[in-house]
Parts: sequence; structure tokens; C-alpha cells
Amino acid sequence: MKNTRVLTGITTTGTPHLGNYIGAIKPAIQASQSPNLDSFFFLADYHALIKTTDYNLIHKSTKEVAACWIALGLNTERAIFYRQSDIPEIPELSWLLSCVAAKGLMNRAHAYKNRVQNNLTNKEDSDYGITMGLFSYPILMAADILMFNATVIPVGRDQIQHVEMARDIAQRFNHLYGNLFDLPEAQIDENIETLQGLDGKKMSKSYNNIIPIFLTEKKLKRHINKIKTNLLEPGETKDPKTSTVFQIWKSFATEEQTKEMEENYKNGIAWGEAKNLLFNLINSKLKEPRETYNQLLENPNQIEEILSEGGKKARAKSRPFMEKIREAVGIKALKDS
Ligand code: TRP
Repeated sequence: MKNTRVLTGITTTGTPHLGNYIGAIKPAIQASQSPNLDSFFFLADYHALIKTTDYNLIHKSTKEVAACWIALGLNTERAIFYRQSDIPEIPELSWLLSCVAAKGLMNRAHAYKNRVQNNLTNKEDSDYGITMGLFSYPILMAADILMFNATVIPVGRDQIQHVEMARDIAQRFNHLYGNLFDLPEAQIDENIETLQGLDGKKMSKSYNNIIPIFLTEKKLKRHINKIKTNLLEPGETKDPKTSTVFQIWKSFATEEQTKEMEENYKNGIAWGEAKNLLFNLINSKLKEPRETYNQLLENPNQIEEILSEGGKKARAKSRPFMEKIREAVGIKALKDS
């Protein structure tokens, strides 16, 4: 029997932060160790172009994201780890899918609809600032997924709709041209909490409240000290449920360590002390990977080599499959049959 194929993409527009680590990177690396799964992880640099025209940022982020996954222990022998733009079959498939995807379906995409709504609220033209890339983003994402017939797609909640759209598009394509695509499904891990950022809101680049994964020790400490707390004094009992320091602690700690911290809160641990403990915990987990990360950033050729190996493995699948898809739609060599 064929292994289940798991696939996810990381948009290369930022520096990976602790929320990415807990929510996506760690579970993905763990899953990729399972012998019953084939994992596909890729740097979604074509998607990044939709979000920014800052070419330096895209380049830097691609390097950082790749180095980060490798440093945190991704087994690039087992998992196929590649850059989207190294797979020309993906944009090619994206076009074929565009030709069957309903415009009305794209009109319903949350990301697009929100932008339209914002424009209307701001009394702008409804299309203001909206590119075709943004509008057809779900189709490119469908191509990412369907190209490798992946069925399990671990994503954040904001991406569920996109995976459902990929499924819709695949069904329509299959109906028209024969059963080429397996139907993907979003996988949301209920056990993983969304990490809170410095201000207590969801940790996200767009809220400017992130703690990057790989900071120097000094800067990591400074970031952790900036996490918002309240005015309770040392000795006063504190509530773990409403504490960002505790929430982050729990995501990195063992069950036992979590219980200990709960006890500390009850006994009125000082915020400064709780933050100290949090720094020590996180730092101990990141110390080694941080060294690998820095060493990779200084040797980008090493990253490049790993990515191009991954690209080769991915293309060994995408090339023949694309050939089959082209034939199915009637694009093939003219010869006596
Ligand atoms: N759109 C996803 C995000 O912003 C990233 C992504 C691109 C992706 N292609 C994908 C995720 C394919 C899963 C599968 O997070």
C-alpha cells in the first residue's frame, strides 16, 4: 500500500518565530519521522511574491526558513524538502487548474473577501491594491498540493478554506479528465495551542509581537522580559490561565514541569523569576539548534545543496505526473496513433 502523503508549505516572508515552531515546525518534524508517512515540506516562495515585492526580504526569509527547519532536526533524507520555485510543474499545473476553477469559488476566499471589505470600509474602490496573484492564490495552493497527490495537509485554521478549495478544484478536474488527483484534507491538531505573543494576542508577524526562534541569548532574554504580565507583586497568587508566560512555558515544558510552574504561580512566584525560568527552559532547547542555524547561515551553499537535492526528488515525481496530466487535457505530441 502507498504511504499517506503529508504536505505543507511555508510562505517565505518572515523570520520563523516560537509560534511557528510550536504550531507547525515541531509537529511536522515529528510526523516526518513516522515510517507510514511520506512528507513533503516546501518553501512557498511563489506565494511570498503575493505578499511582498521586497526581494531582499524574500531572499533572506527563504534562507532563514530553510536553515531553521534543518537546524531544528528535519531529516532531509526522509522528508522531501524543497523550494516551490524549483518545481516548474507547479505553476504549470496552476494554469491548468485555473482553467477549471470557478471564479465564483475564488470570490468566496476569506483572504480576498477581507481585503475587499477593508477597501469598502475605507471608501476605496473594491479592487484597490488587489492583485491577480492574491485573487488566485488558492489555485496556486491547490497546485502545490495536487502536484504530489498529498492527502493530509497540516495547516493553521486560516488555511482550512484553501484546502477545501483545493479539494473542490480536484473533484472538478477529476470529473472532467479522469481520476488524476487524490482528494486532500486539512489537518488541524486540536492538542496544539496557538502560542501567544508578547502582548498576549496570537503570536504573529502582523501583530508585531513575535519572539524569533533564533535570537542571541541576550536578545532572547530581552524578548522574554517584554512579555506582558500584570501588576501582581511577588507573593501574590497568580492565575496561570490568563498568563502568557505560563502559556508559552506549557508549550515547551514536560507535564511535570508544567505542574511545578502551576504550583509556583499558586505560591506567588515573582514575574521576573517566572520569566527567568522560561528563558532557561527555552534556551536549553534552542542552544544546539541555534549553533547549527548560525553555521548554516554562514554557509548558504550548504542550504542550497540540501534544497536542490530535495528539488530533484520532488521533480522525479512532478515531471512524470505533469506529463500524464497534460495528456489528460489533450496536450500531447502529434503523431500517428
Ligand atoms: N498558504 C499557506 C500559508 O499562508 C502556505 C502554503 C502555500 C501551503 N502552499 C501550501 C500550506 C500548500 C499547505 C499546502 O500558511
